[in-house]
Amino acid sequence: MQIIKCKDYEEASKVAGDIISDAIQEKPDIVLGLATGSSPIGIYQNLIEDYKNKKISFENVRTYNLDEYVGIDRDCPQSYYYFMNDHLFNHVNIKQENVHIPYATPKALEESCKKYSKELDKTVVDIQLLGIGANGHIGFNEPKTPFDQKTFIVQLTEKTREDNKRFFNTLEEVPSKAITMGIAEIMKAKKIVLIATGKNKAEAMKRLLSKEVTTDFPASALHLHQDVIVVTDEEALSLVND
Ligand code: GLP
Repeated sequence: MQIIKCKDYEEASKVAGDIISDAIQEKPDIVLGLATGSSPIGIYQNLIEDYKNKKISFENVRTYNLDEYVGIDRDCPQSYYYFMNDHLFNHVNIKQENVHIPYATPKALEESCKKYSKELDKTVVDIQLLGIGANGHIGFNEPKTPFDQKTFIVQLTEKTREDNKRFFNTLEEVPSKAITMGIAEIMKAKKIVLIATGKNKAEAMKRLLSKEVTTDFPASALHLHQDVIVVTDEEALSLVND
């Protein structure tokens, strides 16, 4: 696990954005695993900038998103489908058919998971982008999720619902379920880039960098991967001794 310590969110977004941008230049038909949440927004802004400056093209890029709430329509601003269009896809020349975002039909949850798992089985993600939840969740893989888990429907913890409340009007509106790529599928990516910045991530970074591997802290599975880059900042590392 390689740690890149940046000054702040802005620098971390630039560094992580450049890793992805360089990779797109090197392999124009790259397969990207994408994440939502506040953490990757700056990265997406950098990628849009590079696209506008004609440094990169998304013409042949394929993407697979990590997760999506259950019970929220795609046209709802809180859906991750909406988020991805709003923060990236609407601003670049990606082809709609190359975008994959899981969607769980409420009446066919099992089938929805199988369908996304099948799509993931057929592909190899070159770079998987990740954020991290305060409790160490990656995608929506909450503590205790087995490391061999494939796409599934997760019951979100109260902590995660509370953390994500800021995107909704009330806590009651935050869905209690989500569909998420499993840890096994995340780990299949050739390279993983995790971005964690700000003091809200300090506890999570302390735990991640303690190197203990345990299902109690899902992101610790990343210690078992050969090529992980953690792009972080001073605040997120404030509880880690050098
Ligand atoms: C959500 C997403 C995760 C994300 C996490 C952290 O729960 N499912 O993929 O990493 O939030 O979000 P933020 O970056 O806003 O702190």
